Amino acid sequence: MPGLGVVGIQWGDEGKGKIIDMLSRYADVVVRFQGGANAGHTIVAEGKKVILHLVPSGALHEKKYCIIGNGVVLDPEVLKREIEELKSLGFLKDDRRLMVSGLAHLIMPYHKKLDVLKESKGSKKIGTTGRGIGPAYEDKMGRMGIRVVDLLDKKVFKERVKENLELKNFLIKRYYKEEPFKIREIIKAYDVYRKFLKRYAKDTSAFLHRCIEKDMDILFEGAQGTYLDIDHGTYPYVTSSNTVSGNIASGAGVPPSSINYILGVCKAYTTRVGEGPFPTELFDDTGKRIREIGGEFGATTGRPRRCGWFDAVIAKRAIRLNGVNGLAIMKLDVLDGFEKIMVCTKYRMRGRIIDEPPMGIEEYRECVPVYEEMEGWRSSIRGIKSFEELPVNAKNYLRRLEELLQTKIDIISTGPERENTILINLYFRERRSA
Ligand code: IMP
Repeated sequence: MPGLGVVGIQWGDEGKGKIIDMLSRYADVVVRFQGGANAGHTIVAEGKKVILHLVPSGALHEKKYCIIGNGVVLDPEVLKREIEELKSLGFLKDDRRLMVSGLAHLIMPYHKKLDVLKESKGSKKIGTTGRGIGPAYEDKMGRMGIRVVDLLDKKVFKERVKENLELKNFLIKRYYKEEPFKIREIIKAYDVYRKFLKRYAKDTSAFLHRCIEKDMDILFEGAQGTYLDIDHGTYPYVTSSNTVSGNIASGAGVPPSSINYILGVCKAYTTRVGEGPFPTELFDDTGKRIREIGGEFGATTGRPRRCGWFDAVIAKRAIRLNGVNGLAIMKLDVLDGFEKIMVCTKYRMRGRIIDEPPMGIEEYRECVPVYEEMEGWRSSIRGIKSFEELPVNAKNYLRRLEELLQTKIDIISTGPERENTILINLYFRERRSA
């Protein structure tokens, strides 16, 4: 049975990039199934720094198939730039291994414009990445979207752009009082993308079915995190796709039975970018210290991330939502030197103690964490490669997390480099040696 899903169980930026990069080495195929260029991870490979937004990180390893699934909203401008950059760095030598689903929806220039305009007007700012994600998914659900396969047909594409522009330009001109888009300019820009995308556009679902039949190892690469999920996150302060493992099947076009193990990734503390509730957020020097030591600034927008203690309430719910089988605890070394470490085990909300995240956004804002205090380890664990070598208080912290979350830890990250990792269980390698 071939499928491993990797998902974030906090608000994104959990460090999935490092884990996916490591696991990609053992996989045959790496698949993105949701989100778009709002995601971003920085990978250092062969001494070269690469920031990927769309291309699955399998592209940094030779002989991997990389799939951008139907559930992704694809910005062809970003994809083109990324492929060119990867090639100039000596990666993606055989680019036929990169495939884009013909059913993926395209991000159009008006999506990006509307994303930014919507954020600038009115009081309900979400703090989006401005990559056009929300407006593109709105069009997909509203059955107005334009897919890769539509772009490949010149006539269909022109008709679809025309229909869309009537409405979009009305909104841009009348409501936002901005310059409308000219159809000619869009057609011209996307002519270039048509020629470029032709090479990569495929029936990726059929391809994946063949891979499943051949029992190949498939890695499904989640973007963002559980609390940015459109249904299960802190709505409306979320992204516009389902980020939970349940969406792997529809976003990649594979049966749920092909997903056999879910690895949940979280940091040893919590961060969030953009607006929205975050019960364990720290506004004091400790929060600042975590941000500085952890280098907590967004890979896509460079924004400083909000930082706080580990929140076991949200992590536990996310584990159940995603069916997490094992955990990767990232950036444990960032907590080196803290005298005390807090873990939120429950919330106090409107005079009650609760152990599930609330449904209403106002209730969420009113949640006050109930903390358990743990002793810090006050020494450097940077680069430690085995659990036994960890200081006793670090072991206690991890064991307490396992207990609270009722889930075993598979991987612990003790530094940014690939080799700064404690591997307890590596799904693909385990499978291979089984
Ligand atoms: P959007 O996905 O650009 O629409 O942004 C919606 C919310 O999701 C904002 O709060 C963003 O900061 C957040 N977000 C989107 N992508 C990521 C990500 O990859 N990491 C962390 N936060 C993200």
